[in-house]
Amino acid sequence: MTKPASTTGAGLRDVVAAPSSICFIDGDQGILSYCGYNIHELAERSTFEEIVFLLWNGRLPKRDELKELKNALLANRKIPADLIALIKSFPRTAVPMDVLRTSVSALAFYDPERHDNSLEASKHKALRLVAQFPSVVAAIDRVRHGQEPLDPKAELSHAANFLYMLNGKEPLDVETKAFDIALILHADHEFNASTFAARVTAATLADIYASITSAIGALSGPLHGGANEQVMKMLLDIGSLEKVDDYVKQRLAQGQKIMGIGHAVYRTEDPRATYLRKMSQEIGKRQGDTKWFDISHRIEEIVVDEMTKKEKPIRANVDFYSASTYYMLGIPVDLYTPIFALSRISGWTAHVLEQYANNKLIRPRSEYTGEMDLKYREIDER
Ligand code: COA
Repeated sequence: MTKPASTTGAGLRDVVAAPSSICFIDGDQGILSYCGYNIHELAERSTFEEIVFLLWNGRLPKRDELKELKNALLANRKIPADLIALIKSFPRTAVPMDVLRTSVSALAFYDPERHDNSLEASKHKALRLVAQFPSVVAAIDRVRHGQEPLDPKAELSHAANFLYMLNGKEPLDVETKAFDIALILHADHEFNASTFAARVTAATLADIYASITSAIGALSGPLHGGANEQVMKMLLDIGSLEKVDDYVKQRLAQGQKIMGIGHAVYRTEDPRATYLRKMSQEIGKRQGDTKWFDISHRIEEIVVDEMTKKEKPIRANVDFYSASTYYMLGIPVDLYTPIFALSRISGWTAHVLEQYANNKLIRPRSEYTGEMDLKYREIDER
């Protein structure tokens, strides 16, 4: 009898699970690119809609292609009234990320191509998912505050329309720009836990809604997308710059983790954090109060310093400065992870479509560490 031996450490670190032409990360040099384009250039020059096209097609759109995609997204923004009724039936105290998971699963029932699992139909479903995610997240927040969900506004971009549907007023251009950049930065990150969960589900040839529901479940955990909410809770808990040093040192001494810091792949600065750090500082300056940036920055300094002394150098990740950025944009803390999802839906769908196009069931082995050849004994003899 042969038992498969483990070739890796825990958590599949550095294991290449499949080829993919969507996203590249060099964790040692801190490089992230989507389909060959460096994330910094995309963050500075592109828009979220362009990124959706890029991730799905592997190239940037021409003008008419972008217009066509924008129109298709606009045409699919509205969510079914039945879904809104369903959201209203949930307890007001339900966690938004959990409501998102159930809502996206339910959206499958209303998809006109729900019984068609062809690649073509899956592409249409991907479009509907990207278009509807912001409407679902905004509806979840409004319903729990006793407000009616708003209809989307056709003249607004993906980013601006979400902020409008959430807050009931059109955002300023600077707010739209900041939010659009945040969406670009979160759009994809190769085989992170939620994307891998989506691909594992897609590889069974389950439909795209099942795959995305798996992804949302994986994203919700505090070690993945849930970290941004935990970061903000920590910032609020600390409350002032003077309290940072004691708080952080105490937590580290107790062996507790500081959320938003550390990464499974990056061994240097997460390039998304570079951008979000700048955004957090700039928004603070514009609003005349850099308190949340200052607290974040001090936490980062101490953690980097303390962990470097222990020869475990870790740095801020994407979730660290997105927390203070979203806070200053007036977004409720428990919506941070659903907002991560409304960006990452672009990458998830790209990966599911890539998986369908060249599918192989994903089925690794475990390294069995239990006992062998035990004799079965009747229940009274155990
Ligand atoms: N705070 C304190 N210590 C941390 C830490 C953190 N945020 N992140 C990692 N460490 C410690 C680890 O415990 C480990 O110490 P050990 O060797 O004594 O066990 C050491 O630093 C090296 O960790 P590393 O191997 O680089 O990380 P990982 O691959 O095990 O875990 C994460 C990666 C993301 C799960 C981890 O950094 C973490 O939990 N971060 C906080 C959650 C978070 O921000 N998640 C979002 C990721 S985008």
